[in-house]
Amino acid sequence: MHIDREMAINLPNVRLISHPLIEHKLSILRDKNTQSFQFRMVVDEISHLMIFEATRKLALRDVSVQTPVAKTTAKKLATKIMICPILRAALGMLDSVFTIIPDAAVGFLGFQRNEATAQAEFFYAKLPPDASSRTAIIIDPMFATGGTAIDAVKFLKEKGVKEIKFISIIAAPEGLKRFSEIYPDVDVYTAAIDERLDEKNYIVPGLGDAGDRVFNTLD
Ligand code: URA
Repeated sequence: MHIDREMAINLPNVRLISHPLIEHKLSILRDKNTQSFQFRMVVDEISHLMIFEATRKLALRDVSVQTPVAKTTAKKLATKIMICPILRAALGMLDSVFTIIPDAAVGFLGFQRNEATAQAEFFYAKLPPDASSRTAIIIDPMFATGGTAIDAVKFLKEKGVKEIKFISIIAAPEGLKRFSEIYPDVDVYTAAIDERLDEKNYIVPGLGDAGDRVFNTLD
């Protein structure tokens, strides 16, 4: 069944983070004349703004703290965090997320686009030893067919990770629907839901190849 943007917004695990500053910065990312150095900077800024909202539902636990004045009960995160950037484009988002959650661990997930099939193929993973007890935040700027997202979540679940969130910057309705049918328990935070995928599985209007634009490897 065809899915459009309005239907995707209403999927129960899709969280559209809408904010004037993010919208403004998205227009810079979408512009094909934006240079790679500025593209990188704006990916970093948008990720910084998104992480606040995307971590809103993290569980807390009570801790006892002695302030200079009195003993009190305060809150800390209930679980440790594992940030999982999907190579390579998500490296542009990693610094800002790691800055906000500096005691997180990073678990890299490597997927590479096969240009012949337009599908992503797994090639690498490096997780912390205690991955299964951490809350995973997967980051990938482009949520296109949902194939990479599904494979990444499957991989983490097979490693015993129970709590998983996904942050993308731009998503396609088709990918969100496909993902939500398989993993309705994994919230996907995105700053934009675009119109559709093209025949090469690029998001329309999107911003082109995020990895190439972050790393200045465009033809
Ligand atoms: N990956 C990208 O970098 N861009 C798209 O439009 C889709 C997948």
